[in-house]
Amino acid sequence: MSAAFKNFMDWIDARLPVTETFEKHMSKYYAPKNFNFWYFFGVLATVVLVSQLFTGIWLTMSYVPTAEGAFASVEYIMRDVDYGWMLRYMHSTGASAFFFVVYLHMFRGMAYGSYQKPRELIWLLGMLLFVALMAEGFFGYLLPWGNLAYWAGQVIVSLAGAIPFVGEDLAVWVRGDFNISGITLNRFFALHVVLLPLVLIVLVFLHILALHEVGSNNPDGVDIKKHLDEDGTPLDGIPFHPYYTIGHDLPAIVAFLFFFCIVMFFYPEGGGYLIERPNYEPANPLKTPELIVPVWYYTPFYSMLRAVTFPLFGVDAKFWGLVVMAGAIVIPAVLPWLDRSPVKSIRYKGLGSKIFLAVFIVAFFILGYLGTKHPTAERTLIAQICTAIYFGYFLLMPWYTQVEKTKPVPERVPS
Ligand code: HEM
Repeated sequence: MSAAFKNFMDWIDARLPVTETFEKHMSKYYAPKNFNFWYFFGVLATVVLVSQLFTGIWLTMSYVPTAEGAFASVEYIMRDVDYGWMLRYMHSTGASAFFFVVYLHMFRGMAYGSYQKPRELIWLLGMLLFVALMAEGFFGYLLPWGNLAYWAGQVIVSLAGAIPFVGEDLAVWVRGDFNISGITLNRFFALHVVLLPLVLIVLVFLHILALHEVGSNNPDGVDIKKHLDEDGTPLDGIPFHPYYTIGHDLPAIVAFLFFFCIVMFFYPEGGGYLIERPNYEPANPLKTPELIVPVWYYTPFYSMLRAVTFPLFGVDAKFWGLVVMAGAIVIPAVLPWLDRSPVKSIRYKGLGSKIFLAVFIVAFFILGYLGTKHPTAERTLIAQICTAIYFGYFLLMPWYTQVEKTKPVPERVPS
């Protein structure tokens, strides 16, 4: 460090603890030395978030948030704005990439029991992030004013109408109109570009702060704070910077960006799964698309909504579908209190946990697939079975994590 730079940093540090913060969260943050592939996705989610924020700001410079101007302004961005096509494809591909990495990130947490004590708050903040991300995606999806997005928005907002007594008024309040209209578009725009990005940034900040307070979990679920050297440094920990930043995360970011670019440059429509064909037509209240389904990252939950086909207690099936869908989204939040296992990681859990997790993942994929298709009697039955499996994984957890035989967890991180 040159003397001038050192003087400059001393001056800053006396007024703002930059070096101290860097040390606390990077160069003296000791992370377990056995991180693996599954530990890439938190940082990748952060990378995608930053990319979405920047491309979003630039898209906003040319986007027109009105029913008359929205569709044409997106075409203008695609054809006339310098590199507008790239900004738009980065943003649309980024939306799918975000969910892709966040789903893998959540799976890692479930497999390694990262939600267990003392990391409950990290998990809860993560769940808030997930819900905020779903809302962010939903509002953003309507903005290009494509016909499928318009009708999907219509279906989802009108679900609120199924809530007894207040439903219809609530739906009108959300839309600001009796149908999805320019007024709805305008408020969704405000939420998408101002409120939810702020919420996401604050939540990510708190998520990481909470993580650094208790320390990271690891694939073996070993508590590295139990074995310290004479300076109080975990024997099984390594400084996050530079070991994980340069040695682990940077190559992952490069590899991720490589795949991201392949999709963005060569398959931005993703065979109609990332940008759907009917969205190349402007919103038309008089023309319902043949098949109204949401984007792939919502389809498992959409399947569960449609799986409820029968009224209960004199209340419409649509309402119970809404309850099941909302329940499916929020139920992972209570995982820290459902898991009674004495061990964290799936590596040391019993057969019950392993089978339940595997079947849960298969059911989730099947639900995701069914959500992209027309419902038929057979598909609805399969969706009902998979919905039962989905909830069974959570609701039976207090039982199977208690009765199964676990393996002993090593005292130290195995080398
Ligand atoms: C915008 C979305 C998110 C971002 C940017 C984000 C970012 C991160 C980062 C950077 C880490 C540390 C690195 C790592 O362990 O991979 C982390 C850890 C963690 N995240 Fe997230 N996260 C997000 C969403 C979620 C969600 C939806 C959940 C679950 C509901 C979640 C649960 C966790 C847990 C439990 C940890 C600690 C893992 C461990 O120590 O084993 N996160 N997150």
